[in-house]
Amino acid sequence: MKVVPLLAAALVLAGLPQSEGAINRAAVVRRFNPVRTASSPVTPMMVGNGNFAFGADVTGMQTVLPFNTLSSWGWHNNSLPTTPGQNSTTDFTGVEWWTHGRLVWYDQANPQEPEISNWLVQNPQRVNLGRIGLVYEGRNITEDALSEKNQTLDLFSGVITSTFTLNGSRVRVVTTCHPQQDTVSFSIQSELIQTGKLAVFVDFPYTDVEKFEAPFVGDWSSPSSHSTSLRRSPASPDAATVEHTLGQAVYSTVLAWAGAAAVTSAPGYAHRYLVEPGAGATVFELSAFFTAKPPGQQPPPAPFEAARNASAAWWAGYWGSGAFIDLTQGGNASAIEVQRRVILSQYLLAVNEAGHDPPQESGLTNNGWYGKFHLEMVVWHLGHWGLWGRFDIQDRSTGVYLRFLNSSFARAGKQGYAGARFGKMSDPTGGSAPGEINSLLIWQQPHPMFFAETEYQAKGDAATLEKWDAVITAAADFMVSYAWWNTTTDVYDLGPPMYPASENTNPNTTMNPVFELAYWQFALRVAQDWKARQNKTAPASWGSVAAQLAPLPVHNGTYIICEGLDDMWNDTQYTSNHPALIGVYGLIPPPVPPLAFDVSVLRATLGRVYATWNLTESYGWDFPMLAMTSARLGDGETAVEMLLHPAFSFDDVGMPTGGTRVPAPYFPSSGGLLMAVAMMAAGWHGPAEGTTLESRWPAGWTVVAEGFEKGL
Ligand SMILES: *[C@@H]1O[C@H](CO)[C@@H](O)[C@H](O)[C@H]1NC(C)=O
Ligand SMILES: *[C@@H]1O[C@H](CO)[C@@H](O)[C@H](O)[C@H]1NC(C)=O
Ligand SMILES: *[C@@H]1O[C@H](CO)[C@@H](O)[C@H](O)[C@H]1NC(C)=O
Ligand SMILES: *[C@@H]1O[C@H](CO)[C@@H](O)[C@H](O)[C@H]1NC(C)=O
Ligand SMILES: *[C@@H]1O[C@H](CO)[C@@H](O)[C@H](O)[C@H]1NC(C)=O
Ligand SMILES: *[C@@H]1O[C@H](CO)[C@@H](O)[C@H](O)[C@H]1NC(C)=O
Ligand SMILES: *[C@@H]1O[C@H](CO)[C@@H](O)[C@H](O)[C@H]1NC(C)=O
Ligand SMILES: *[C@@H]1O[C@H](CO)[C@@H](O)[C@H](O)[C@H]1NC(C)=O
Ligand SMILES: *[C@@H]1O[C@H](CO)[C@@H](O)[C@H](O)[C@H]1NC(C)=O
Ligand SMILES: *[C@@H]1O[C@H](CO)[C@@H](O)[C@H](O)[C@H]1NC(C)=O
Ligand SMILES: *[C@@H]1O[C@H](CO)[C@@H](O)[C@H](O)[C@H]1NC(C)=O
Ligand SMILES: *[C@@H]1O[C@H](CO)[C@@H](O)[C@H](O)[C@H]1NC(C)=O
Repeated sequence: MKVVPLLAAALVLAGLPQSEGAINRAAVVRRFNPVRTASSPVTPMMVGNGNFAFGADVTGMQTVLPFNTLSSWGWHNNSLPTTPGQNSTTDFTGVEWWTHGRLVWYDQANPQEPEISNWLVQNPQRVNLGRIGLVYEGRNITEDALSEKNQTLDLFSGVITSTFTLNGSRVRVVTTCHPQQDTVSFSIQSELIQTGKLAVFVDFPYTDVEKFEAPFVGDWSSPSSHSTSLRRSPASPDAATVEHTLGQAVYSTVLAWAGAAAVTSAPGYAHRYLVEPGAGATVFELSAFFTAKPPGQQPPPAPFEAARNASAAWWAGYWGSGAFIDLTQGGNASAIEVQRRVILSQYLLAVNEAGHDPPQESGLTNNGWYGKFHLEMVVWHLGHWGLWGRFDIQDRSTGVYLRFLNSSFARAGKQGYAGARFGKMSDPTGGSAPGEINSLLIWQQPHPMFFAETEYQAKGDAATLEKWDAVITAAADFMVSYAWWNTTTDVYDLGPPMYPASENTNPNTTMNPVFELAYWQFALRVAQDWKARQNKTAPASWGSVAAQLAPLPVHNGTYIICEGLDDMWNDTQYTSNHPALIGVYGLIPPPVPPLAFDVSVLRATLGRVYATWNLTESYGWDFPMLAMTSARLGDGETAVEMLLHPAFSFDDVGMPTGGTRVPAPYFPSSGGLLMAVAMMAAGWHGPAEGTTLESRWPAGWTVVAEGFEKGL
């Protein structure tokens, strides 16, 4: 483990986080335990395990607000359109655009095939697996009926404790999630349990086809579009299963409890069930295990105490391992706010973004883009894990590249390219939703090299080389095949047509964007190193494309988004979206010769961004990306200003707001924040002006950090 030099004189004993003189991680974490006295109408308080998460209102359940229960595995397809010629996914043909003198197929909505095109965009959708809350004497409980509400999330153990008074009686609900089993578990304590007045309901929605479903997911008004059934077994009197059928998808909710309880279908509801504790005891413990496994293969849900203990053990391990930063020791209020954002982001990303597949923008909190995940965004969602020494968590979802290789080879082949072209707006099968931007972005292609190189720099082992070799080879083959040899200029061009990361130019005239050129060079160099490290020979084409890429576009002393866009700085179309052009010296290492990169031009470019960009309209990863570049230039003051920018905000439980553009939460903000903080703590392997810890943070801050990996 690496020890980062400290500003403060404190001695850091890396790997011994609880020891004297180092960081007392538990104390720093618990200082930021969120406390609520009312439900937020927008964001839940959450428990979860990365693959499965439960959003709670102020009761610790989904009693007064229908927050969501989402997973990485729960998906549903609507039935296909019935229009002749558009009633099968194979009826979709996409479109052809001229591309360097030939017609190339693009996965875009075809105006002749609107219904099947639209179906492919909207399907599959991520399923809200169910709602679990309390009823009082069989009736709904509203927030108005609750008083003396108080709710605390203990970040160090993953446990929410909620207390409130309902009609004169105190109620205490403890909520937790099992780290390995997709089970949410409750302990409900009240004399209202003893008197039989309080019961639990479980309810199931159909899926909706709204692009954004925030804060609540699902369609509660189409009961006949889906079905549920209750299954009991005499052998398990303290358990019941509700099977939920949505078209071809069948999901089960296995309920198990301690003590006696009756389970019934709720009168007047199509898909609501009641679990009514037998009168007598003051505590009722209930676990709900959600699964796609068929009956007979469903393990019993972990009981409450086992789930709580497993959660406490997992979270203690999480906080006790990997990197840690403590900005609280100097007592500076801004530093403490950055720390709050960091701690809450660490919690929420492990709950929402540590699953079997890359996460959607809103993790497992609510649905955006129908619940699908974007492969160009994975670096913002997942890139922080490695820098924080958590490759085990990163591994959970980066296997998606191997899983998607075949569909990516097919996509490239259909377009006449070699190698694997990764999709964009993806679902677990590897499908990519039709769309103009979706089919014309290219900055997802080098991401595997970003992950692989970060891991290799940290581990330097043969296993890492082997793990990434097939993906890197396929990605590099596509990148080389995609680059187009321009016989007029004797360089390899990128595009047209294409969209740069900022998505704000005309694709038919966009060529040689500065960020993509730099990223192409970086990735092809990594690909060659990868082969050399294994004593294998890289194809010669990888080297010749890397060595002959088009020059970085410069005009009047600054880099510009792409070649020919000389007047970008006075046009808000170009100065109001992601300023990705500055990512070439921050997020990724600066280009090397023969690309002529000049750090003073980059500095001028960043200055123009700060002078012209309307940052109020920026969102998400823009701020951490600007922070990385400022820090890499040795300007820690501005870096922190970006991390605390008013348009880059995190609510009381740490949910990143989406600014003016997207609903909360927009987790690329959280992942970007953790990546920027890691780079500011540990620096970079590649060139940087911000070579000292002091230069990467504001003057006077006390920064104690341990265990971080350097950025690239
Ligand atoms: C949805 O349909 C697609 C295309 O036919 C298929 O690949 C996928 O497995 C289906 N997903 C679900 C959850 O039914
Ligand atoms: C789908 O449309 C084709 C015509 O394109 C028709 O022959 C076929 O019967 C239709 N299938 C279904 C299931 O509606
Ligand atoms: C780009 O060119 C194609 C023809 O190759 C055309 O169909 C398409 O509409 C053009 N797109 C834009 C955004 O101009
Ligand atoms: C109780 O809440 C459910 C879900 O919001 C709603 O459908 C139902 O109408 C409510 N019942 C009453 C009696 O208000
Ligand atoms: C809420 O609970 C927290 C943690 O137990 C406690 O510190 C706080 O004082 C309580 N607030 C109220 C208003 O009861
Ligand atoms: C509160 O409890 C009393 C006594 O059991 C009952 O008469 C009354 O209906 C309850 N109030 C509500 C709002 O349910
Ligand atoms: C849970 O942890 C407590 C405290 O360590 C221990 O006493 C108890 O036996 C554990 N229960 C289970 C079911 O693991
Ligand atoms: C070759 O590069 C020049 C300069 O970048 C560009 O104007 C021209 O369109 C390119 N040629 C082709 C055929 O794309
Ligand atoms: C590559 O070759 C060198 C020199 O022969 C050898 O020391 C090294 O172990 C080899 N590495 C691998 C990964 O085979
Ligand atoms: C060149 O950049 C300077 C600022 O560095 C600006 O004042 C000037 O207007 C720019 N000139 C052109 C032609 O864009
Ligand atoms: C930006 O400035 C250039 C050169 O001064 C001019 O040609 C162009 O029309 C201006 N664009 C806008 C949107 O004002
Ligand atoms: C910046 O954007 C915000 C949000 O769209 C807008 O309200 C504000 O007027 C803009 N400011 C400028 C100077 O254009």
